[in-house]
Amino acid sequence: MRIILLGAPGAGKGTQCKRIVERYGLQHLSSGDILRQERAAGTQLGKKAQSYMDCGALVPDKLIVEMMAGAIKKAPAAGFVLDGFPRTVNQAVELDKSLARKDHKIDAVLSLEIDDKIVIERMTGRRSCLKCGAVYHIENLKPKVEGKCDHDGAELIQRRDDSLEVVHNRLKTYHQQTEAVVNYYKNSSAGPAFYRIDANREAAMVSDSIFESLDALVSV
Ligand code: AP5
Ligand code: MG
Repeated sequence: MRIILLGAPGAGKGTQCKRIVERYGLQHLSSGDILRQERAAGTQLGKKAQSYMDCGALVPDKLIVEMMAGAIKKAPAAGFVLDGFPRTVNQAVELDKSLARKDHKIDAVLSLEIDDKIVIERMTGRRSCLKCGAVYHIENLKPKVEGKCDHDGAELIQRRDDSLEVVHNRLKTYHQQTEAVVNYYKNSSAGPAFYRIDANREAAMVSDSIFESLDALVSV
């Protein structure tokens, strides 16, 4: 199964992807996590991406499309869930083209819909594991031991782009450039199954709606 999770910054893409991969045995491919790993490793790609990420702008399509094509190529036959990619209509078109070359296609698109006000609350309290990408919240989703990842015990950090000013820019970027991707999939007649998910609710309820949609697809 090949899935795309769309949604504004802080909609819960990373949180829900972790649950989706556990349930369906897929690989989680987060463009943001891959970029942060490239930065931590000091690669050319990481250096090029840095200034865009730190101000809440999009990294140029060419760099992202190449990076994600490489990650998709290595994904297992069971499939993958894309988180944060595609983020422009051009990226979506390039993804379709590269999958079509292998006779593959996206099976489902889940659009996590959330109010901007809730995004701001979530982002300022987020803590992330740099090692495995797991996400927590200081109020809503606490780790078992404060400051440590439940999965690997690594230190939890606050992302550099989670300051209020950058979160505002990321939301602006989302509305200006990424919302069009939702319409691209919603309006595509022969395209993937499309589901709108209310992401304002607590995480377990959001997961239930996602599983309901995907279970129906798996059992077809
Ligand atoms: P990326 O890392 O993809 O960031 P993002 O899309 O802004 O999304 P986030 O990771 O911030 O949020 P999320 O939806 O994953 O929410 P989470 O589950 O963590 O991208 C970063 C940057 O990289 C971009 O700005 C750009 O520069 C660049 N980039 C990446 N992809 C690109 C692309 N394709 N093209 C160009 N540039 C690209 O949850 C947030 C918080 O809320 C957590 O604390 C969590 O615990 C909590 N939470 C989650 N769900 C709930 C809930 N239901 N109730 C209460 N709290 C919850
Ligand atoms: Mg994320």
